[in-house]
Amino acid sequence: MRVLITGGTGLLGRALAEALRQAGDEVIVLSRRPEPARLPPGVQGARWDGRTPEGWGHLVEGAFAIINLAGESIGQRWTEATKRRIRESRLNAGRAIVEAIAAAREKPQVVLQASAVGYYGPRGEERLTEEDPPGSDFLARLAVDWEASTQPVEAMGVRRVILRTGIVLAKDGGALPRLLLPFRLFLGGPLGNGRQGWSWIHRDDWVEAARFLMENPEARGPYNLTAPQPVSNAELCRILGKVIGRPSWLPVPAFALRLLFGEGADFLLTGQFVLPKRLLEAGFTFRYPDPESALRAILRPTAS
Ligand SMILES: NC(=O)c1ccc[n+]([C@@H]2O[C@H](COP(=O)([O-])OP(=O)(O)OC[C@H]3O[C@@H](n4cnc5c(N)ncnc54)[C@H](OP(=O)(O)O)[C@@H]3O)[C@@H](O)[C@H]2O)c1
Repeated sequence: MRVLITGGTGLLGRALAEALRQAGDEVIVLSRRPEPARLPPGVQGARWDGRTPEGWGHLVEGAFAIINLAGESIGQRWTEATKRRIRESRLNAGRAIVEAIAAAREKPQVVLQASAVGYYGPRGEERLTEEDPPGSDFLARLAVDWEASTQPVEAMGVRRVILRTGIVLAKDGGALPRLLLPFRLFLGGPLGNGRQGWSWIHRDDWVEAARFLMENPEARGPYNLTAPQPVSNAELCRILGKVIGRPSWLPVPAFALRLLFGEGADFLLTGQFVLPKRLLEAGFTFRYPDPESALRAILRPTAS
């Protein structure tokens, strides 16, 4: 089966591309810079501009799936210009995919559309499922529009799955290496008051859940890709400290995060407790359901 992945050079896309290739799929990564060194081994690259089907649209013909993960990183200092890039990169990618599918005679079976648990907005102690309504802050409004960006393919008969992803834990990128650094210096601790929900997922479970939803013909609509045991940021930091044998005692003050990330600090200082209700109902089994087993697996010396 041919699978196209936008953003397939990133933290999630690389791992998913590798897993699909190992399972025997033909994987093509759409990238702005598809140099072999940026691609997982054995995976083909095709150049795209993230905005139009030019130069790659023909690859959609007869493909099984398109997985849309591309988007400018939100883990940077937010200015009006970065917020615009964060938003436009995602909406433009969705639009390009819709155009490419509209033009294809033989349309793909399924589109997997990335989204994030930021969809729900900051929600205190509430436990949230896919049925809960969206929030209204920048990230929530972004997620709503991002999810909608590929919706027109449904009217073309294409099954569509939304991957509402939590904080992905991996050794080589994303939130964990940034959290780890102060811990290694004996300066680790919760972010702000630490009460905010951190709906995390081990990257291996994310990859398996994405494959499960891609291959399951009944799967459609939004799925929370989060582990069944979301925890507060302080609890995650406590477990992280325990796993690496360092104390979790020095809270990072909110003002310091705001100095570093501007409005983007809200993403770290607020959060939500999200449950993977639809994945569990569909029969998906998590390999790492609790944070301690996930962190131990990621941080054992031989882990990749
Ligand atoms: N990691 C997480 O914890 C997490 C949580 C929730 C949601 N997500 C979402 O899931 C998606 C994949 O996450 P990730 O962690 O793998 O992201 P990532 O490592 O930042 O990779 C995203 C990819 O998007 C492409 N990209 C970056 N800026 C772009 C731009 N301005 N225009 C077009 N393409 C651009 C890049 O590919 P090229 O440079 O090759 O073009 C990059 O490899 C992202 O959209 C992210 O927001 C991630």
